[in-house]
Amino acid sequence: MMQKSVRRMAGLIDNVLDFARGRLGGGFAIERRGAMIQPALEQVITELRLSFPDRTIETAFSLEEPAHCDLARIAQLFSNLLGNALKHGSPDSPVQIRGSLHGGMFDLSVSNFGDDIPPETLGRLFEPFSRSDFALHQQGLGLGLYIASEIAMAHGGQITVSSSGGETKFAFLMPLKHPMNL
Ligand SMILES: Nc1ncnc2c1ncn2[C@@H]1O[C@H](COP(=O)(O)OP(=O)(O)OP(=O)(O)O)[C@@H](O)[C@H]1O
Ligand SMILES: [Mg+2]
Repeated sequence: MMQKSVRRMAGLIDNVLDFARGRLGGGFAIERRGAMIQPALEQVITELRLSFPDRTIETAFSLEEPAHCDLARIAQLFSNLLGNALKHGSPDSPVQIRGSLHGGMFDLSVSNFGDDIPPETLGRLFEPFSRSDFALHQQGLGLGLYIASEIAMAHGGQITVSSSGGETKFAFLMPLKHPMNL
């Protein structure tokens, strides 16, 4: 229990520090390197499975080539999306993860079942401290998606969300080549 609390507190502190850095330092600095993405994603899944041992997490990966990105930041982005699906989604349904490299893009999506996010909330999700009203009883600051979207933008990509018919899906899409390197 202590390990879980420490992990959660460390996560909150990291988020607040990243928020401050993003706001005060004029954006996120990322360090791109050629790297295999799948092991980093699997590491995040292994970590979150410790906190959610009863949940079914399904993966479909097609990530055979190295990609030019900041692997630690991509792992952080993914950890928030998967953590959200486990934390905010329905506990009896599986969480589905898809990741692929195709057409010069890296495509990663996380979907879960549960109550739809109200349409009026969808547009504000990526703002700092945004939490939907129906989630007020839950822990967390509402910084995760803001930071994830900053990481996506620093990679020249973006995160989009759809939530209807009981399925919520967050998708991250980024170009594999940095515009400056073209
Ligand atoms: N997969 C999801 N399914 C349903 N609601 C979601 C999902 N992901 C995010 N949300 C809603 O969006 C809000 C903002 O998410 P965000 O990750 O920014 O903050 P958080 O998870 O509440 O806290 P933290 O700062 O620890 O990440 C959540 O509080 C929740 O209401
Ligand atoms: Mg979150």
